[in-house]
Amino acid sequence: MRIQSLRSPSGPLSFGAIVDGVRLRSIRSDSPEFFELRDAWHEFGLLIFPGQFLSRDEQDDFGRLFGDLEFEAAAITNLRRDGSTRSDVDDDVVKSLRGNEGWHHDSTYMPVQAKGAVFTAEIVPDSGGATGWADMRAAYEALSDEDRDRISELQADHSLEYSMGRAGYLPTANEEGGYSFYGYHGGPAPRRPLIKEHPATGRPNLNIGRHAHNVSGLDDAASETLLDRLNEAACQGDRVHHHQWAPGDAVLWDNRRLMHRATPYDMTQPRRMWHTRIAGDPATETALNY
Ligand SMILES: [Fe+2]
Repeated sequence: MRIQSLRSPSGPLSFGAIVDGVRLRSIRSDSPEFFELRDAWHEFGLLIFPGQFLSRDEQDDFGRLFGDLEFEAAAITNLRRDGSTRSDVDDDVVKSLRGNEGWHHDSTYMPVQAKGAVFTAEIVPDSGGATGWADMRAAYEALSDEDRDRISELQADHSLEYSMGRAGYLPTANEEGGYSFYGYHGGPAPRRPLIKEHPATGRPNLNIGRHAHNVSGLDDAASETLLDRLNEAACQGDRVHHHQWAPGDAVLWDNRRLMHRATPYDMTQPRRMWHTRIAGDPATETALNY
């Protein structure tokens, strides 16, 4: 197995590695390869595995090496069952896909934040549709002393109702006036600290992104201003990497450390990705108010 850290022209990025010389479908939980990969996952946060061509079951089995699943391989796609593409901005699936273009951690809007994800590419457009990741451990370390002190005790609510409403992408309401898509659970918005210690590494991370709002002690405008500034400053330079997908690529990321985002593509072209979400450990990823 060869693990090479991601680089920019000025040197290594703060996170991320490309891994080859390994077959993910054949890794067992008691093998030396697994322990090497788990250590690399904690060290790099993002592992990119070109050309794996995992089946859905193989992808889920690989995810289970790192924890229970929040959900099994789900299609992230603009394809309808009949093979036609969705591109209309009023289509609820398109809204969901476009909403993901804002930086976020997965499932901060759920009672238990996700631990990580396995994401694979099956069908990709001619151009665009890259996925970006940003390193919130390095972003925390880059904060000024003043900002670090200011936000050290602050908390925020996280919800899809907020993030999708702000972006103008809320789906069509159901008969009860709620939303039927995953994540719109109707319960209280999970409350989370802006700075959170990583349970495996002990290192502090910013825990922010598009779902965060209503910062403790601030009015709505001041809360948005603070969070917008933190998000903007965090996702910069050598703390960011975008991967341009080829069919068969697989990635594994640490959702406790990294944020990620989708990027636009021509939605008249088909794109189908598969997302397996690894559940957070309830002991460390449960919201403060759950
Ligand atoms: Fe996501």
